[in-house]
Amino acid sequence: MTVDVLVLHKLNHWILEGLDKNFRCHHAWQAADPAKFVAEVGPRARGMACGGHGPVGPALLDKLPKLEVVSCFGVGYDGVDVKACTQRKVRVTNTPEVLTSDVADLAIGLTIATLRRIVAGDRFVRGGEWLKGALPLYDKLGGKTVGIIGMGRIGQAIARRCAACETTVVYHGPRKKDVPYRYYPDLAAMARDSDIVIVACPGGEATRNLVNAKVIDALGKDGYLVNIARGSVVEEPALVKALVEGKLAGAGLDVFADEPRVPEALFKLDNVVLQPHVGSATTATRKAMADLVVGNLVEHFAGRKLLTPVN
Ligand code: 8YV
Repeated sequence: MTVDVLVLHKLNHWILEGLDKNFRCHHAWQAADPAKFVAEVGPRARGMACGGHGPVGPALLDKLPKLEVVSCFGVGYDGVDVKACTQRKVRVTNTPEVLTSDVADLAIGLTIATLRRIVAGDRFVRGGEWLKGALPLYDKLGGKTVGIIGMGRIGQAIARRCAACETTVVYHGPRKKDVPYRYYPDLAAMARDSDIVIVACPGGEATRNLVNAKVIDALGKDGYLVNIARGSVVEEPALVKALVEGKLAGAGLDVFADEPRVPEALFKLDNVVLQPHVGSATTATRKAMADLVVGNLVEHFAGRKLLTPVN
């Protein structure tokens, strides 16, 4: 029996090869008119593979009456309406665990790079500026208080690394967890008490603009913001304004509100380190994520348990 699978987005080559090997794939991302393509093949599709950004909601699901499972490439699935999927008895899977250490590493990398201006220092050497003088002194990480938003798997991996960097960890989230760090139910209060706030919570409506002007103001002119989660969690115009006006000491950003578009005002700032959403972008991890995207579909259609179910 050949199963029809709709491939919504251009996913990495391991996924595309794995899917083509196991299923009859319909690649919407290759179609000149993806909406028309989906309308044509949708009635046959029993499986779907996509990025966690979707959008996968009622409008698309209505075109896929036989859909049984959506396999998302990413731990985050904020573009997938899980409630609408559950109502239609459609299972959703993601790629947790395998990327946790990479994303936590990048959070710490961005934190150190921002406080110590590692990127500006690199430009300084390459540009021959060192021959003319020294860089100013920058900020020390050891001894600082790091407030983590989201104490899930990634938040906890960041916290462990923060402890190794001799910082004090505190956290905010919807509920207190069984972790040895002080919990703040109020985010602005945590920001006030933190030197660095690291965003590590899921995206989506529940966290949209959680880090707003008030929180940024509470973090203050000596504070830093690091975001490896989703751009949607931060009120980006307020962040840019604070950085431009010197009301925040710096930021390390891997994610943005409208990727791949990044506010150009940030390009001029040496106290900001920018990355193109690469938290999970190592060969080993992207391969492991691919194995889960393909594996979840293979297991489902073999009548076995999903490897990493969301619902
Ligand atoms: C992306 C991510 O999946 O896992 C997530 O939620 O944001 C990333 O790992 C990756 O960038 C591919 O789009």
